Amino acid sequence: MAKSAGTVRFAAVGDLHVTREAAGTLRAFFTQACEHADALLLCGDLTDYGTAEEAHVLAEELAVVKVPVVAVLGNHDFESGMPEVVTETLTKAGVRVLDGEACEIEGVGIAGVKGFAGGFGRGSLGAWGEPAIKQFVQEALQEALKLESALAKLRTPRRIALLHYAPICGTVMGEPVDIFPFLGSSRLEEPLLRYPVDAVFHGHAHRGTMEGKTINGVPVFNVARPLLQRSRPDQAPFRLFELPREEGSEREPAAPVPAAASA
Ligand SMILES: [Fe+2]
Ligand SMILES: [Fe+2]
Repeated sequence: MAKSAGTVRFAAVGDLHVTREAAGTLRAFFTQACEHADALLLCGDLTDYGTAEEAHVLAEELAVVKVPVVAVLGNHDFESGMPEVVTETLTKAGVRVLDGEACEIEGVGIAGVKGFAGGFGRGSLGAWGEPAIKQFVQEALQEALKLESALAKLRTPRRIALLHYAPICGTVMGEPVDIFPFLGSSRLEEPLLRYPVDAVFHGHAHRGTMEGKTINGVPVFNVARPLLQRSRPDQAPFRLFELPREEGSEREPAAPVPAAASA
């Protein structure tokens, strides 16, 4: 699919899980992705253990990318206790790493946050009982608030949400039901009902489902690389998504949808 002047096209993938052994192995993939897209979106678990060395390997591999790169971190990027080093290394390489912030690519606004776990719908963990449980739930609420404040800042007519954890149950289907609560949280869906977007991308659920919808009909794409590789072995493991190009059409900051209308 060639790039088109009338659209802005994104190539999205998550869960690269870059290790030190990955040096030299991702350049062809990144080159192919940016040949087809105006920007590259990376949905967390950029590294395998969140080490400085892995972040450097990824930064080197991304040197071939000639389009903007926007990313969020994933849980693996926290494993070595130095997510700020991962962020700094990638930022120096030109990647826009979002943690509750927003940016704009060719008139399309992108709000990004890692997200957190906690479960979906009636299975959501509630903030009740021991302090540890309350703290766990608070982490998910905090990530949802960060997403909401990022979305509220965007003035663009078109908007995308970039996450690592899933905001809906539909795109984790295929994983063992026992681990659903660790794959995402419905609390991340709430800001998407108040500030609707054109699409949501996430990763983390390696054995989930590629597509779902929020309860207000927004498409949600699970772009975990292992899932894309397994589901479409004949295609390069990134998901292309395009939006009409609407240059010069700034609008007021997104107005929240009243709660009654979003239920
Ligand atoms: Fe992952
Ligand atoms: Fe993950």
